[in-house]
Amino acid sequence: MDRDQLLRELNEFLRIPSVSTLPAHNQDCRAAAEWVAAALRRIGCHDVEFLGSETHPVVWGKGPDVPGAPTLLIYGHYDVQPPDPLAEWTTPPFEPTQRDGRIYARGAADDKGQVFCLLQAIAASSRPAVNFRFLIEGEEEYGSKVLFDLLKREPQRVRADAVLVADMSYVAPGWPAVYTTLRGLAYGEITVRTSKTDLHSGEYGGAAPNAHEELCRLLGRLKTADGKIHIPGFYGPVKRPSKAELAAWKKLPFNEKDFLTKRVQGKGLVGLKKASVLERLWALPTFEIHGILGGFTGEGAKTVIPAEATAKVSMRLVPNQKLAAVERQLAAAVKRFAPKYVTATVRFLHGADPAQIKLDHPAFKLLDQAFKEVTGRGSVPARAGGSIPVVPALASAGAPVILTGIGLPDDRLHAPNEKLELKQLWDGIEVFRRFYELLGGAGRM
Ligand code: BES
Ligand code: MN
Ligand code: MN
Repeated sequence: MDRDQLLRELNEFLRIPSVSTLPAHNQDCRAAAEWVAAALRRIGCHDVEFLGSETHPVVWGKGPDVPGAPTLLIYGHYDVQPPDPLAEWTTPPFEPTQRDGRIYARGAADDKGQVFCLLQAIAASSRPAVNFRFLIEGEEEYGSKVLFDLLKREPQRVRADAVLVADMSYVAPGWPAVYTTLRGLAYGEITVRTSKTDLHSGEYGGAAPNAHEELCRLLGRLKTADGKIHIPGFYGPVKRPSKAELAAWKKLPFNEKDFLTKRVQGKGLVGLKKASVLERLWALPTFEIHGILGGFTGEGAKTVIPAEATAKVSMRLVPNQKLAAVERQLAAAVKRFAPKYVTATVRFLHGADPAQIKLDHPAFKLLDQAFKEVTGRGSVPARAGGSIPVVPALASAGAPVILTGIGLPDDRLHAPNEKLELKQLWDGIEVFRRFYELLGGAGRM
């Protein structure tokens, strides 16, 4: 199919504002699921179902089939993160636009463009000897509850010889990667209450506690300026990477200074000094504050002591940390650090365990070969700082989960002006087409 036609199809997908964390977009999520279902039927899927939710269904697909051939389960997500701040987009997030060999849109790289790539690679291949299965979900950006519940009810859905996930990136242009770990996530809200209602800051100031001040102090105790997180028990299960792994990372095309000036575009980096930047991004847990709500934030001035303040926070977890344990640890730390006169509570919104993947299955060699043939370089092992909540569940039936992707590190996922490079897309279609062919040729493994 010609490339203009392909881009028209992808644009149709990218135009749907399927933001899963905002209920106002429920119908759009459904529409994106319909787009996926139609695309699956076009490539020869004979059994396409919507599972688990009316508004954010998991799209299940079965076929094309070749009896006796290996089964490949393809996972992806059709939902996207909210596009704000809208004013910072050069062109609107849901009006995909081509500029300088790139396509700009929310979801271009995460993950609609990559789902499109995986499917198009099937259309571009000549019937590889592979049995295709699909789980394309609509709630990845909100913790994957629908898919988790589905897999609890029907664990056989993940039975396959291999699982392919393309929801990440190369480690640098020209450097394709496969990932050995994903960080987990515990996302919650810490709320502090100091009085029944807000109070006049003249009448009460100096003697009445201030919810925002208490919240700030609490947050300041949970993580200090040196980057250390002080939640008791938090670092207990964390293992430093081996010497061999740290040495391998030194050979990757990653430069701490470039990371600061070109990617972060700030004035300095933070975090534990004893660890390299890659170790901080890939192998250490985090504590981040996403936003603080409450008090007076309107125009002008109001002299008031806020009674309540809430911080949205999350912790990224690394292998051997457990979501349930970390949630308990944070709740206990908040109770312990809050003064007696403060009511402090934690409410968890969603989360994910970390994932660890061994690269010893023969399918990894086939993907490596496909990358080598198409891009001139095989896939380097790397770790991922981000999370994909269902990956541990996808691995639960024993199939190797191949974590890879066709994006680039500067695609600006979740941020304004998210993009996908067209070269990455065209190469990606070739890579996966070749991978399916090699997998079919290898037979059941
Ligand atoms: N595709 C990302 C995960 C990712 C990003 C992996 C970069 C590796 C490198 C995924 O869509 C994502 O953003 N996941 C969320 C999950 C969360 C909301 C439960 C994340 O990591 O914040
Ligand atoms: Mn994603
Ligand atoms: Mn994402």
